[in-house]
Amino acid sequence: MKSVLVTGGLGFIGSHTVVELLARGYRVVIVDNLANTRAEVLDGIASISGQRPTWANIDLADPVACRALLAGLPELAGIIHFAAHKAVGESVQKPLAYYRNNFGSLVNLLDYTAERPQCRFIFSSSCTVYGQADSLPIREDAPVKPAESPYGNTKQVGEEILRDGARAHGFRAIALRYFNPIGAHPTARIGELPLGVPQNLVPFITQSAAGLRGALKVFGNDYPTRDGTCIRDYIHVVDVALAHIYALERLLAGKGSDPVEVFNLGTGTGSTVLEVIAAFERATGRKLQYEFAPRRAGDVVAAYADTGKAAAGLGWRAELPLERSMADAWRWQQALAGK
Ligand code: UD1
Repeated sequence: MKSVLVTGGLGFIGSHTVVELLARGYRVVIVDNLANTRAEVLDGIASISGQRPTWANIDLADPVACRALLAGLPELAGIIHFAAHKAVGESVQKPLAYYRNNFGSLVNLLDYTAERPQCRFIFSSSCTVYGQADSLPIREDAPVKPAESPYGNTKQVGEEILRDGARAHGFRAIALRYFNPIGAHPTARIGELPLGVPQNLVPFITQSAAGLRGALKVFGNDYPTRDGTCIRDYIHVVDVALAHIYALERLLAGKGSDPVEVFNLGTGTGSTVLEVIAAFERATGRKLQYEFAPRRAGDVVAAYADTGKAAAGLGWRAELPLERSMADAWRWQQALAGK
């Protein structure tokens, strides 16, 4: 049985990835300090999987705690590193906290892979590294643009830290650049747990439809797009989770040309904000209240993935359509209301 450490394993994408790893017979150890989630997520994972993985509640940015944890684990086949702060606006207010947390935890974990290069590493990166790309769909070889926020910078520099570390110490890694993960597990037992007012579109939509928030504000309707609203590539979180399994298996099989490979995780299809609202209404039969508001600072006009490299390299493609994502997000929102 191969052991895999999943950092941030109680978070949104992490918890869905843990479920898929357990289903494939991996032994999973979760590290999560509950910075942006709740301990009950472990119950959700256990009820879906019929297994309760080990969970360590430690701060990976603390080098002593991180080293002590890793020293006590069975030999790891891989580390999937989700744990990071991810709120763009907050990162502008608290840049040092973002750099300390996101870089500290990454470097502390890579100390382990530097000593044991047979341990594979998967890093959560973001399509934010492309900024407003010059051409669409966005290929992995598109230039990395100057970061718009400290959060975005932690993803760009995080990829560079991986490359420098791999070159010097001989480990192998994959950085996965997520587009817009949404939805929830089809069982509605795990999903996204935004604390406070959701900043992201889909959790705001489901909370608004549930009566927990007012009308959705659509940020900008004068963009040069088919209906004036921004275009993004929304991808079901279960598809994102599965891509991590394919990435791990690629690394374990010793495939890949470069020590650090980069893959986009998107569907390849861009949707406007109004199309997302329409998909929600079709999927749930509910009407959403929304109003147009000024553009949000830092938003790019359009971003969607070229999926060819992931299809060829990982043998993976996103399969779940937008309406299914919206239906699952809504069922999760209703399940939360019943808790
Ligand atoms: C955002 C971050 C991105 C980060 C990702 C992580 C910004 C500029 N980008 O992506 O760096 O990796 O979250 O979760 O913050 N929208 C509304 N009303 C809302 C919320 C969103 O109209 O209340 C619109 C936005 O203008 C955008 C789209 O919905 O066009 C998606 O927004 P969001 O879910 O925040 O994702 P990104 O901005 O793509």
